[in-house]
Amino acid sequence: MKVLVVGSGGREHAIVTSVAKSPRVDKIYCAPGNAGIAALAECVPIGAMEFDKLVAFAKEKEIDLTVIGMDDPLVGGIVDVFEKEGLRVFGPRKNAAILEGSKAFSKDLMKKYNIPTAAYETFTDPEKALEYLETAKMPIVLKADGLALGKGVIIAQTRDEAKAAVRDMMENHVFGKSGDHVVIEEFLTGPEVSVLAFTDGKVVKPMVSSMDHKRANDHDTGLNTGGMGTVAPNPYYTPEIAAECMEKIFLPTIHAMNAEGCPFKGCLYFGLMLTPDGPKVIEYNCRFGDPETQVVLPLLEGDLLHIMEACTNGTLADEDVKFSDGAAACVILASGGYPVAYEKGKPISGLVDGQLPDEENVTVYHSGTALTEDGTLVTNGGRVLGVTATGPRLTNALSHAYEAAEKIHFDKLHKRSDIGLRALKALAEKQ
Ligand code: AMP
Ligand code: GLY
Repeated sequence: MKVLVVGSGGREHAIVTSVAKSPRVDKIYCAPGNAGIAALAECVPIGAMEFDKLVAFAKEKEIDLTVIGMDDPLVGGIVDVFEKEGLRVFGPRKNAAILEGSKAFSKDLMKKYNIPTAAYETFTDPEKALEYLETAKMPIVLKADGLALGKGVIIAQTRDEAKAAVRDMMENHVFGKSGDHVVIEEFLTGPEVSVLAFTDGKVVKPMVSSMDHKRANDHDTGLNTGGMGTVAPNPYYTPEIAAECMEKIFLPTIHAMNAEGCPFKGCLYFGLMLTPDGPKVIEYNCRFGDPETQVVLPLLEGDLLHIMEACTNGTLADEDVKFSDGAAACVILASGGYPVAYEKGKPISGLVDGQLPDEENVTVYHSGTALTEDGTLVTNGGRVLGVTATGPRLTNALSHAYEAAEKIHFDKLHKRSDIGLRALKALAEKQ
């Protein structure tokens, strides 16, 4: 089979790595890919939003399955464009990707179908939003409606902060058009869990749970980022909680999307908070999480390609989706200054052909790297590399990931030193 993966980050590197293990794969392409992905797939210089070029490429190369990694093309309707041309593609159609593309849509859906989530109101008029804030309980959470690169969420501690955020979003348009429509919601507390799930629109098969670390700096301080590291499984996510989520969140979401006439097929990401009142949905994403995928897919036992085909064909019920009993940890090496301003083009040392030689059970997933004309590996993004280790237990995986990360250097490298600490504490408390 020939497979095309669309995207250029660590998530796509993890997908390509997993797909490459399938005995049925003859050739993998990645558009546009990156320097690390290039070791496993032929990278083609087509952007993820260049739908016409991607379709033409898939036809020319007779691609059997295209896998869309990123949110932007999914929300933009790339799956509909591929399907119209008779091409097989893994991912939700536009009318289902809206689950991530519009927070107002997803909140209204959850309200209508009684799926537990934070209480909320949506606003298109800044005056009404400001008036609502006069009496609302603090802290409070404000979310710009559309995709805002993970930055469209503000947690305001005080009324003044909340009002300033409304003005920034709705009047000063700091998140562009996505701030025209703002969701204001109740502040929830509790451990966060990410659950990625395969679905063919009929059944849902969750993957091993994981924990992201979204803030830029240690002790969960600094700005929100795309994610600075992950561990799997998430120790807070017990089998009892998993069963409750299946019954109250996962299946109801699939049924709700069907009832609305927009069945979801692909990978559905549930961002959950385990509140004192039970698990609640913080957000849906319409694709694999990044860097969750870098700890989840290495634990997958079985053929990812086969499972993705089953999601596309509507035969997921027949698939056995199994994960190993081990653990995985991913430490992100970022460019200093991320998520705001950072430099690119810094030479990276310590890697041979993009990987760490002499390290077993470690994979270095490339998020933002490039090769210069003379073949030097350089930084090319805010998140640069994700160093993932697997091990029988989380403590092994974590210490191994950090040991391995020490071998990689570039100017102004920034990483958190406390990835997984909270998970280890939770594990210790369980015993
Ligand atoms: P989101 O982009 O919706 O995932 O939000 C980013 C982060 O903001 C989440 O991972 C949470 O840590 C936090 N957050 C979002 N919504 C809430 C909420 N209602 N209560 C508390 N924290 C939240
Ligand atoms: N790590 C969070 C996300 O993929 O959106």
